[in-house]
Amino acid sequence: MTQRDIRAFVFDAYGTLLDVYSATRSLSEELGPNAQSISDLWRTKQLEYSWLRSLMEAHSDFWNVTSDALTYALKYHDIKDQDLHARLMSLYLELTAYEDAISTLKKIKKHKHTTLVLSNGSQEMLDKSLESSGLQQFLDKTISIDDVGVYKPSPQVYKLATDYVRCHPEEILFVSANAWDVAGANHFGFRVAWINRFKRPPEILPGGPELIIDSLSELNQLYKFSSN
Ligand code: LAC
Repeated sequence: MTQRDIRAFVFDAYGTLLDVYSATRSLSEELGPNAQSISDLWRTKQLEYSWLRSLMEAHSDFWNVTSDALTYALKYHDIKDQDLHARLMSLYLELTAYEDAISTLKKIKKHKHTTLVLSNGSQEMLDKSLESSGLQQFLDKTISIDDVGVYKPSPQVYKLATDYVRCHPEEILFVSANAWDVAGANHFGFRVAWINRFKRPPEILPGGPELIIDSLSELNQLYKFSSN
């Protein structure tokens, strides 16, 4: 297969560009010794509910799924504080960007490449969090799964990117920190780089990365950005 040129760099949002743990970190004092456990369970349940709702064909947007997952995580730790729930949800719209996300997107844009986000996030969640994190200025387009009403790793989601760019799947370089998203995207046909932020083993699923990196800045191993 010819190594077609990359027409667009497409990024997952949560965990890849945005630090999902920054919401609970802001309230770690208040959450106490269970802060990390609440944060981990919140993320785990958010993803589980997205997969289960897609399989059940009972779609609800990622804001509702994220809220339900937080309700579960707080209840599991015997916390019934509605105000705390509300404050954590509003912090989810102000997640911090990873340092390497800003510097790498800036470089990619400087080289006039097309940059997209393709995410489970609702359009409103993505618009608000990508703006507040300072990433929006380096993105040409933010694509939410709202447009198809099913969650990753459904092929219908990845097809949103090839439809927008009007290209073949192998002309997309997809970047994600979520190994299951990496598998789904490559199984669809994207070329994929996995940023293994959480030092996990690869999933045993169809599809996988052609490059495993620790920082987004290593993407230049595939595409020579300037050194500066
Ligand atoms: C997203 C989640 C899966 O941004 O990280 O789509």
